[in-house]
Amino acid sequence: MFGLGAKNIGIDLGTANTLVYMEGKGIVLREPSVVAKNTQTDKVIAVGSEAREMIGRTPANIAAIRPMKDGVIADYDTTAAMLKYFIEKTVGNAKPSAMICVPSGVTEVEKRAVIDAARVAGAREAFVIEEPFAAAIGAGLPVMDPTGSMVVDIGGGTTDVATISLGGIVSSTSIRQAGDKFNSAIINYVHSNFNLLIGERTAEDIKIQIGSASVEKATNIESINIRGRDLVSGLPKSVDVKAVDVANAIQDVVQDIIVAIKETLEQTSPEIAADVIDHGIVLTGGGALLKNLPDVISEATKVPVFIAQDPLDCVALGTGKSLKNIELMRKSRR
Ligand SMILES: Nc1ncnc2c1ncn2[C@@H]1O[C@H](COP(=O)(O)OP(=O)(O)OP(=O)(O)O)[C@@H](O)[C@H]1O
Ligand SMILES: [Mg+2]
Repeated sequence: MFGLGAKNIGIDLGTANTLVYMEGKGIVLREPSVVAKNTQTDKVIAVGSEAREMIGRTPANIAAIRPMKDGVIADYDTTAAMLKYFIEKTVGNAKPSAMICVPSGVTEVEKRAVIDAARVAGAREAFVIEEPFAAAIGAGLPVMDPTGSMVVDIGGGTTDVATISLGGIVSSTSIRQAGDKFNSAIINYVHSNFNLLIGERTAEDIKIQIGSASVEKATNIESINIRGRDLVSGLPKSVDVKAVDVANAIQDVVQDIIVAIKETLEQTSPEIAADVIDHGIVLTGGGALLKNLPDVISEATKVPVFIAQDPLDCVALGTGKSLKNIELMRKSRR
């Protein structure tokens, strides 16, 4: 008999954050997907929050690595080491069955890599679920009903857009434009306008504090004082960055997300389109928290837009809730 002695777990293996859901308990771990390693010995020094603090601050012999990129595994060994740490932290030495999310539209090879990494990390068996489907379950959408729902999950690496009905994905689009691209647009803007070099963490702080998906509405938000290294003098320097300029800098990424939503709507049947008009589009993932995003999406699509409750938790909750289907998935695999 499978699963005896070990609780099944759901894992949201994200580009920015990894969450673990334990059957009967709910979400038991939320950590950044970061690993600090000694570059000479390859030994893991820190994982999660502790490793994230080290980004941009490491000496030559230490590297703070984000092993996931654009929603998929970029560094296999480091991902496996990170998962091992998180699995041990939540279930100890027990070998759980695991349900792990992957962005929609990933290749078989990319799926296989996730399953293998989970097994190397200590899972007895692993299954994958498409991230927008998990997000929709976690957001409480009626995924099993004969009614169309639309979910847009904006993470660090990917934006996954999907319409769902009768327990399956009807149409979906996944683009590699999400939170990380907002950050790099901000880094580029500060670089070219102030000759100032800032790190990923500073860019993320700017986005969270004064970022706005709407340029017009950004004029009501103030500016922020930031620090970095002057590219000409090489010395530390601080400048004031205006919200409206940040909004302009990230507009291309916002527009790409809107195009992906429109394309997904175009692929659906008139019935599902009608359902989406009635029930609205639901946003999940950390990117859903970008100020004024629901408004600009709603304006562009003429459809009401809502942010799910606890958007950062939806995918993990969805992987957790689909653990009850593990027996079915086992059978279909045989
Ligand atoms: N208040 C906020 N405003 C704007 N962006 C935010 C906010 N809070 C978090 N984010 C962004 O959300 C992203 C992380 O979201 P999430 O944890 O859903 O991603 P992920 O699941 O790890 O990534 P993916 O699903 O693409 O693999 C980061 O880019 C982070 O900067
Ligand atoms: Mg995610």
